Amino acid sequence: MTANPLANKHITLAVTGGIAAYKSCELVRLLVKAGASVQVVMSEAAARFVGPLTFETLSGRPVAIDQFSGTMPHLTLTRENTDLLLVAPATANILAKAANGIADDLASTLIAGRKCPLAVAPAMNDMMWTNAPNQRNIALLKQDGVHVFGPACGELACGVSGSGRMLEPEQIVACVRKVLTPQVLAGKKVLVTAGPTYEPIDPVRGITNLSSGKQGYAVAQAAFEAGAEVLLISGPTGIKAPYGVKLIKTDTALNMKAAVDEAASTADIFISVAAVADWHVLAPSTQKIKKSSYGEAQPMIMLEENPDILAETARCNPHLYCVGFAAETQNIESYAREKLERKGVSLVVGNNAGLALGADLNSVVFVSKSAAIAFEGISKLEVAQRLMNAIACNLGLCKGEIS
Ligand SMILES: Cc1cc2nc3c(=O)[nH]c(=O)nc-3n(C[C@H](O)[C@H](O)[C@H](O)COP(=O)(O)O)c2cc1C
Repeated sequence: MTANPLANKHITLAVTGGIAAYKSCELVRLLVKAGASVQVVMSEAAARFVGPLTFETLSGRPVAIDQFSGTMPHLTLTRENTDLLLVAPATANILAKAANGIADDLASTLIAGRKCPLAVAPAMNDMMWTNAPNQRNIALLKQDGVHVFGPACGELACGVSGSGRMLEPEQIVACVRKVLTPQVLAGKKVLVTAGPTYEPIDPVRGITNLSSGKQGYAVAQAAFEAGAEVLLISGPTGIKAPYGVKLIKTDTALNMKAAVDEAASTADIFISVAAVADWHVLAPSTQKIKKSSYGEAQPMIMLEENPDILAETARCNPHLYCVGFAAETQNIESYAREKLERKGVSLVVGNNAGLALGADLNSVVFVSKSAAIAFEGISKLEVAQRLMNAIACNLGLCKGEIS
């Protein structure tokens, strides 16, 4: 188990002749930084956009352009234990060649003769992207099991806005991580809550807690990387949603519950990571409460209990596989087991509230009806990855560590 599916992976990156080639310099940097080795191949057109020296320097390897120099580079460059052949940017031209088995330069011949998985990140003008032959080629590539990353809709180099924009380098990295992760939750819909809730006292003040949202966002990322369709319902946090995850932002526990209620019936798995307030303020003021209006008196805040989102979602949706998180300051395993039984859920992740809130590392215990497994001092992403595997095992989707 590794939090980093890119560690020690070897990627052959074919850069073809689009203006987005400059972004692939950053892509190489990010892949290398994440622990992958990268062999860059360029089409002759690509070398008109960016000098091979830039890629050579970033990858630490000579760039291959000519298929007639060296010892059969058209085969060897995807054979040295290559984990993925990635084409970014992928021009309309290379997509057409890849879809039809044409092999007339180094990049296209590598594609035709590869043994490893192929992924493409198309980049082109919107008219070229929507052009019927290009769409036919994309459909053919998908039929052949090629991973197609994007493209996005947005500002294009030609000055117009439309579809055909290459994904940003960090988004391509997110897609590569997914391709290199076992798809144990493929086809599953996962609903995740994350972060704190915010209960207003008046329009400028409220009650919240120290949850950063990091663990819930990591769960959403791991679920996406494991192949699930992910909806993340988040309380207020400053964190960017992971690529590929649909985000709904909420605030109060009641609003979070309404969003969960709407999504729960069509989800397969519900993972409740949010630190939901137990109470909300009864009748919050619609105007800012003035200190002067109290004189010598002390203001009183009346609280009313919030619904238990996890327990009620589990009770009303017997089809859902439900996972709860329990942030405790003591007796973590026994409180987690008590929560498992009281809330009628399949798995509870007990974590040390004192250590976990806001931190990057977490120490957890996964508690199910028949087992308890502890993991000490691992990253929140690794907690999330281990959780995805535990869920998949419990659902009979893989062999594993907890049931
Ligand atoms: C300035 C300029 C920008 C271009 N941008 C793109 C592009 O973004 N996407 C694309 O598919 N083709 C683009 N082209 C056209 C390709 O460079 C051309 O189709 C070329 O033959 C592609 O060769 P390759 O696929 O071997 O790299 C552009 C051409 C020029 C001159």
